[in-house]
Amino acid sequence: MGKDVIIACDFDSAEKTFAFLDRFTGRKPFVKIGMELYYAEGPAIVRELKRRGHKIFLDLKLHDIPNTVKKAMAVLSRLDVDICNLHAAGTKRMMEAAIEGLTRPDGTRPLLIAVTQLTSTDQEALEKDLWIEKPIDEVVMHYARNAREAGLDGVVCSPLEAGKVHAACGADFLTVTPGVRFADGDVGDQKRVMTPAEAKKVGSDYIVVGRPITAAEDPVAAYERCLREFTEGE
Ligand code: C5P
Repeated sequence: MGKDVIIACDFDSAEKTFAFLDRFTGRKPFVKIGMELYYAEGPAIVRELKRRGHKIFLDLKLHDIPNTVKKAMAVLSRLDVDICNLHAAGTKRMMEAAIEGLTRPDGTRPLLIAVTQLTSTDQEALEKDLWIEKPIDEVVMHYARNAREAGLDGVVCSPLEAGKVHAACGADFLTVTPGVRFADGDVGDQKRVMTPAEAKKVGSDYIVVGRPITAAEDPVAAYERCLREFTEGE
């Protein structure tokens, strides 16, 4: 899969999701289904969006004992999503179990990426709440290397970390990056942001974009601008 823009469909119902996606006549954007939509609508929303021809990143961030994650991943694999994810904090053994669960009898499987540290976790929370006394960027790189060693395909990270992740884990290790805003757009609650063009420059493989597209007056035009800025010259 090449560079692409993934739209974060952060809606609380199938109805709102379809109303939004129906505006994209003739286009089938890559979409991210997160906890909100999945918990509201269940696997039916995944099946329906697949049926409509969308690629799907199912962002459920699994984190449990290895056996439980393995079995849950086997179920997600049967849903035929394109990308799913977990927390690298669940350990290498959990990540290896996830790959096992995800792998179908014919050897194929969805891509699996890891969340290293959530971007909402800062150095203070890392030390005070999690009792991890290391610089956060070193922790992120350590977790990314663990994910690589466990056989995962990449990580979710800030575009500001994409270059370092590629340097530590290889150019073919995917960086999927939220926190993208247009140069002339609202930053909202995201703290450290990059434009699609900047994200491209630092080597992001996929950008995950929510409100700059979903809350735009013309979401299709915003999506196309995003795609153009991110993939121009590809
Ligand atoms: O609306 P916005 O573009 O900020 O949406 C970004 C999407 O990426 C949201 O679904 C958000 O939950 C997700 N995300 C993020 N930062 C992370 C991980 C996921 O913004 N570190």
